[in-house]
Amino acid sequence: MEEDLFQLPVKIGDVTLRNPFIVGSGPTVKSIEQLEQIEKCGWGAASTKQTFNPRPYINYDPRYRWFKKEKLHIFTAERRLDMESGLRLIEAARKRCRELVIIANFSDNSVNMEGWEEGARRFEAAGAQILELNFCCPNMSFNVDVSDKGVNAPRPSSGASMGQDENAVAHVVQSLRKAIRIPIIAKLTPEGGRIAEVSKAALEAGASAVSGVANRLGIPPVDIWNYRKPIYNLQGENTVGCMSGPWIKPLSMRDVFEIRKLVGPGPHINGTGGISSMEDAVQMMMCGADSIGVCTETMLRGFGFLEKWMKSLKAYMKEMGFSTAREMRDLLISEIKSAADLTLWSGYAQVDKEKCSGCGLCVEIGHCNAIVMTDVVASIDPKLCKGCSTCIDICPKQSIRMVEEDVAKR
Ligand SMILES: Cc1cc2nc3c(=O)[nH]c(=O)nc-3n(C[C@H](O)[C@H](O)[C@H](O)COP(=O)(O)O)c2cc1C
Ligand code: SF4
Ligand code: SF4
Repeated sequence: MEEDLFQLPVKIGDVTLRNPFIVGSGPTVKSIEQLEQIEKCGWGAASTKQTFNPRPYINYDPRYRWFKKEKLHIFTAERRLDMESGLRLIEAARKRCRELVIIANFSDNSVNMEGWEEGARRFEAAGAQILELNFCCPNMSFNVDVSDKGVNAPRPSSGASMGQDENAVAHVVQSLRKAIRIPIIAKLTPEGGRIAEVSKAALEAGASAVSGVANRLGIPPVDIWNYRKPIYNLQGENTVGCMSGPWIKPLSMRDVFEIRKLVGPGPHINGTGGISSMEDAVQMMMCGADSIGVCTETMLRGFGFLEKWMKSLKAYMKEMGFSTAREMRDLLISEIKSAADLTLWSGYAQVDKEKCSGCGLCVEIGHCNAIVMTDVVASIDPKLCKGCSTCIDICPKQSIRMVEEDVAKR
C-alpha cells in the first residue's frame, strides 16, 4: 500500500494530529474557505484567528508590510473575531473538515474568570478539539504599554502583557482546566525574556502544551527624509509593530530550547516563529518542538507548499533513519554547549590566488591585520590570522578557505 505523504502523527493531550504542521493563528485562518483549503493541503491542524471577548478596543482593518531583504513581516493593525463569529467558524470547520484538527485561539478581557470560563465552555461545545489561550498578542495592551506608557489610562492586561506574568497565566489555565475537558495550549509571548518559566507554570497549572513564540514588538524601518510618514500604506502615524517571519527564527529556536530544558521531555511544545522551510522545521524539532506552527509563510505563499515540505522531510528522515517526529526532537539539546565549554581548533585562512580578483574587500576588515595585498591578489599571514572566518564570509569570489590544523587550541 502506498504511504500517505501527510502521515507523521503527533499528539497534543489525547488529540492526534496527522502530522506536526499547524497553521498558526492569524489572517490565514479566519474563514471556512481557508480552513477547507488548509485541510486539502494536508496540514495537521489549524489554530483559528484569535477570538477576543469582549470585542477588543483595537480592531482595525489590516496594515502589513513585508521587508523581503530583512525577511521581516510587520503589522500594526489587525482584525480579530468576535465571540459569535469565532464560534460559528469552529462549528462550520468541524462539519466540513474531517482530518484537520481544529484549535480555537481565544482570550477574554474580563478581570474575573467568568468570561474566560464561559468562552472556553462555548468553544468546547462548538466542537473545538483544542483550546489555545492567547497570552501572546502584542498588538493590544502591550502595544499601548510600550508606545504610550504613562500617557493614557492603563488598560486591562491581555495578550503579551498578561503572558509575561506566570501567576496570571497559571491562574487562567488552572481555572479553565476545571471548566473544560479538551486539551489546552498556552500560547506565550517571547517578550519579557521569561518564556521558559511561564511555560513551566502553565504546564503545572494543567496546560497540555505550550506554544512559542508569537510576534515581537519593534520599530520598523523609517524613511529618514520623511520620518513623520510611516512606511505603511494607508496609515497616518508611526507605531511599534508586531514582527514575525524568518528573522525571528534564531530567537524562537532559543526560546523552544530553553523551554524544553526547563520542562523536561514530557510536555508537548509547539515551536513557532520564522519557519519557512522543511529544514527550519527540523531544526526547531531538534531544539525541542513536537509540532511546528507556521503563520507568516502562509500569508505570503498560501498552504500548498506543505506537500513539498512533507516530501523532503520524508526523504530526509529515510536517509537519516528516523521513523517518527519524536526521534528528531531534542537532538540539539545535549549538543548545544555553553561558550565556556567550547573546543576551538587551531587553523588559519588561506587565499586561493587563482580565484582572487584583487577587489580588496578583505583587506578592509576592521578587526584583522593578517591580510595584505601582494601584487594584485590578497595574501594572509598565518601567524597573524586568528581564524575568525569574517574574510571567508565577505569574499565575493569565495576564494578564501580555512586550513584546519589538527590541534586543539583550548
Ligand atoms: C498578521 C498576524 C496576525 C496574527 N494573529 C494572531 C492571533 O490572532 N493569535 C495568535 O495567537 N497569534 C497570532 N499571530 C502570531 C502567529 O501565529 C505566529 O505566532 C507569529 O507570527 C510567529 O510565527 P511566523 O514567523 O510563522 O509568523 C499573528 C501573526 C501575524 C503576522
Ligand atoms: S579568518 Fe579572521 S583573522 Fe584570519 S585572516 Fe580572515 S578575517 Fe583575518
Ligand atoms: S575579498 Fe576575496 S576576491 Fe577580494 S581581495 Fe580578498 S580574497 Fe581576493
